[in-house]
Amino acid sequence: DWTPAHFITDTVAALKEQIGDRKVIMALSGGVDSTVAATLIHKAIGDNLYGIFVDNGVLRKGEFEQVLKTYKDNLHLNVKGIDAKARFYGELAGKTDPEDKRKVIGRLFIDIFQEEAANIEGIEMLGQGTIYPDVIESVSVHGPSVTIKSHHNVGGLPEKMHLGLVEPLRYLFKDEVRRVGRELGIPDELLDRHPFPGPGLAIRILGEITEEKVKLLQEADYRYTTGLKEHNLYKTVWQAGAILLPVKSVGVMGDERTYEYTVALRAVTSVDGMTADWAHLPYDFLAYISNEIINNVRGINRVVYDISSKPPATIEWE
Ligand code: XMP
Repeated sequence: DWTPAHFITDTVAALKEQIGDRKVIMALSGGVDSTVAATLIHKAIGDNLYGIFVDNGVLRKGEFEQVLKTYKDNLHLNVKGIDAKARFYGELAGKTDPEDKRKVIGRLFIDIFQEEAANIEGIEMLGQGTIYPDVIESVSVHGPSVTIKSHHNVGGLPEKMHLGLVEPLRYLFKDEVRRVGRELGIPDELLDRHPFPGPGLAIRILGEITEEKVKLLQEADYRYTTGLKEHNLYKTVWQAGAILLPVKSVGVMGDERTYEYTVALRAVTSVDGMTADWAHLPYDFLAYISNEIINNVRGINRVVYDISSKPPATIEWE
């Protein structure tokens, strides 16, 4: 009988056997998979697991600090947080094509990870939060079929670095990963998170990325996400986020005419992200959140709701 408790006992024993006294490096993202995988590996080998968590400047508001704190204080992981915001903004400057943005972010991430690995004496293995659907999907993403959007997660690291792979979640589905995480005592707040793309807010700022635009979108996204949680809607949708459109429109504030950005809100229901329906969020909530954003986020004077399903639209706008 598969239970999270049995899985943990067996997996920790197997990891001890596989790793021995070698050192493992791992990229942490704040996502469910990498967090659960790291916690299991840490249980097996303690501080011989070296976690690297990079602030790429396009995370959600406050996320880097919050997640790093959870890693250290709640999960006691040996993790190094790296503020690479300026490096990412520098290389993203002038880039407007979605795939170019993905490439810059993917490459810079690998560079930073390799630099960090080189700083730790005697790293021999690489930990990854690969789960079963990733194993299947990587066949179609990297195989002969046409790539619709390239997904740059941490794939590509092992080949370049010649490290042995440690992938404790390789045969699990997402719901099983969450159950294992719960059993390991990982906070619900982390386990129940919506999926968040590797290139983060960079693919939710249409067109060129600037630090100012990131701040604007972070604020709008924060109000939206917090609103969903407060109205008990967060868990009813599969993924949600705000998108900053490269459109300014006229509005009015008191006696003043404004000319500011538009934000699109997206929320979808889905099983696996391959197909998705736009979520029928209550009108009352949409009314509330629109006011909340426009009244509190200076620089945004219009909010629209995306009512497109996938296919033919995609979940992200880029
Ligand atoms: P789309 O937009 O293709 O998104 O319908 C499907 C799911 O994949 C996520 N996504 C990405 N995740 N790197 C990632 O790690 C990416 O480049 C990327 N692009 C899209 C998206 O957030 C959704 O969950």
